[in-house]
Amino acid sequence: MMDERKLPDMLLALSGERIKTAGQWRQTRRQEILDLFREHVYGWESAGRPEIMEFDTKVTPAMMGGSAVRKQVDIRFEGPGGAGSIRMLLFLPSTCSKPCPAFLLLNNRGSQVMDPERDAIAPFWPAERMIARGYAAAVLDVEDADPDFHDGFRNGVHGIFDRLDGERPANAWGTIAAWAWAGSRAMDYLETDPDIDASRVAVVGHSRGGKAALWAGALDERFAFVVSNDSGCTGAAIARGKQGETIRNINDQFPHWFNGNYKTYNDREEHLPVDQHMLLALIAPRPLYVASASKDEWADPRSEFLSLLHAADAYRLFGCEALAGIGFPNPEEPLASERTGYHVRTGEHDLKEYDWDRFMDFADRHAFKRH
Ligand code: GCU
Repeated sequence: MMDERKLPDMLLALSGERIKTAGQWRQTRRQEILDLFREHVYGWESAGRPEIMEFDTKVTPAMMGGSAVRKQVDIRFEGPGGAGSIRMLLFLPSTCSKPCPAFLLLNNRGSQVMDPERDAIAPFWPAERMIARGYAAAVLDVEDADPDFHDGFRNGVHGIFDRLDGERPANAWGTIAAWAWAGSRAMDYLETDPDIDASRVAVVGHSRGGKAALWAGALDERFAFVVSNDSGCTGAAIARGKQGETIRNINDQFPHWFNGNYKTYNDREEHLPVDQHMLLALIAPRPLYVASASKDEWADPRSEFLSLLHAADAYRLFGCEALAGIGFPNPEEPLASERTGYHVRTGEHDLKEYDWDRFMDFADRHAFKRH
């Protein structure tokens, strides 16, 4: 049964108007919720697509025993505070005769995952499996956009795009928002690549990368499918009544991830004007998949699942089916509806081949299905 936590009403606009149609949602409420998340949680990004940006691409054919083409893309940009670059690694199926759908991973595990030679294959990013199923596999290292430590927002894209004079506003973007921004810059590239079907690009992230993937999917509607793996606190999981990591825990340990205002909600989650089901609702009506791991109590699988069920209210406005009114599933029993999917994998907090296989199943059958 659905557990009954008292959550903010996503269908009640700030004006008091009740949202009943997709039109009202799109015209009013979606933007309100997005801005509430900017103001109270992730921060307002100080840059969109940079005016000065270029893509430097190196192509290597016949990788993966001839089954893939490799592209190494350097996304270079400049802002008032200097220049930066995000390196993206992309494998495309050699057999693909038309533009391919793609999975873009916002990688938070550094170079061990992104070995361009594929000498040490990490299950965290099983590019070979994606290629075999006809998907392009793209990955970027989120730390190219912003290193994952607190330096007062001097390095990374904050240093490049923020105006550094005066005190940093309490609603300025943090590191998770910088990582989401990186996802959008990767999408800028993917839109220019004739081998990619830019209308079928999924953004995927695990844990802190999953928080960034959800925020990227909320902000950037070019992502046609959004996948969260074990994203937990301030990712997919509802904050109110959450087990494991709390807002205080995450703010204390990772003060750079979210904005200054978010610190005022330590031990006061019930005062937040949003909860994470509303973040998931921002993905609607696009396909969304949430995955958990059974032993990941810190992330809290039940709070991730509950959030997804509540997000169904937004999908319903569009006349789309989403998971709703069902109990928490057994491990390895994935649930799927037209627009949302969920599974819990037995085991620890991690991103594994099992998870990727289920994301691809959902993409084949629902998210990227062509009628
Ligand atoms: C920490 C953090 C989590 C995060 C995780 C990860 O455990 O508390 O919020 O999801 O790191 O990124 O693996």
